[in-house]
Amino acid sequence: MHTYAFKYHQSIKTVFLGLAALSIVFSLSFQPAHAETDEEIAISVATLLRSARAVISDRQKHINNPDIGDKGVSSDFVIATAKTNYMKATGNSLDAIDKSSLHGQLIDAELQAIKKVMDEAQTSINEQGVGLKGFLPAVFARLVTQNFKNSANGKATIKLTAPKDYVRNRANRPDKWEQNIIQEVFRSPSHPIGQHFAETADVKGKTAYRLILPEYYKESCLGCHGMPKGERDITGGKKEGGVLGELGGAISVVIYR
Ligand code: HEC
Repeated sequence: MHTYAFKYHQSIKTVFLGLAALSIVFSLSFQPAHAETDEEIAISVATLLRSARAVISDRQKHINNPDIGDKGVSSDFVIATAKTNYMKATGNSLDAIDKSSLHGQLIDAELQAIKKVMDEAQTSINEQGVGLKGFLPAVFARLVTQNFKNSANGKATIKLTAPKDYVRNRANRPDKWEQNIIQEVFRSPSHPIGQHFAETADVKGKTAYRLILPEYYKESCLGCHGMPKGERDITGGKKEGGVLGELGGAISVVIYR
């Protein structure tokens, strides 16, 4: 009797465990794609900006060539190449993002901004007989972020900024929060290279998710941002006196909820 009761109990237990395991398997396989966190969305939006900016920097010499008319750096070309760069950077396709999600809406708004900037730049970029046209990666980035303000419809903003003492264009000046993170976190010698910072903070009276990513001077930047400080670069601006590997800027993303 005792043995029978024990066996019965064991088999009930086995059935229950089996059902529990099955229900886990089913719930996992039928779960919709996971909703992205604000952190994932902000990094994705910043990564697309970097991916598109790289298209311009990789073709800077070509864009500055006075002997060529049509450069072939159209909005379609920049978007297609930026998508390839994004895929290389993240392993994910921009086209796979759910269009109805906030992530999908912001990426779409950013692509619209890139298209507008590139369409409007065509006449200048394709002008034969002119070398330097002032169409630099940072200028491209600023124009995209300014257009994103409208296309994202107030849901989010992106900005390419820099330490206060290094800012070239006043439109790129860091706000208090950005300057504080740049100075106290990114410029701290103990801060791990490349690590972003994020928190929920008040922006113009609204609660928002803020994320900021550091950017560093590479060799290719120093012709304009390097030594000697104050000397004119080829664009006519004053060099910052920056050195290789130094914190030179930051991409700042705000998502309003
Ligand atoms: C040909 C000269 C030139 C080169 C090379 C260059 N920059 Fe700049 N950079 C500029 C100019 C000019 C601006 C101002 C752009 C604007 O009007 O928004 C600028 C703006 C910036 C900004 C935005 C903040 C600000 O100061 O207005 C950052 C960040 C920046 N550059 C970082 C870099 C980094 C990092 C590199 C190398 C990967 C680089 N730049 C290469 C000329 C240059």
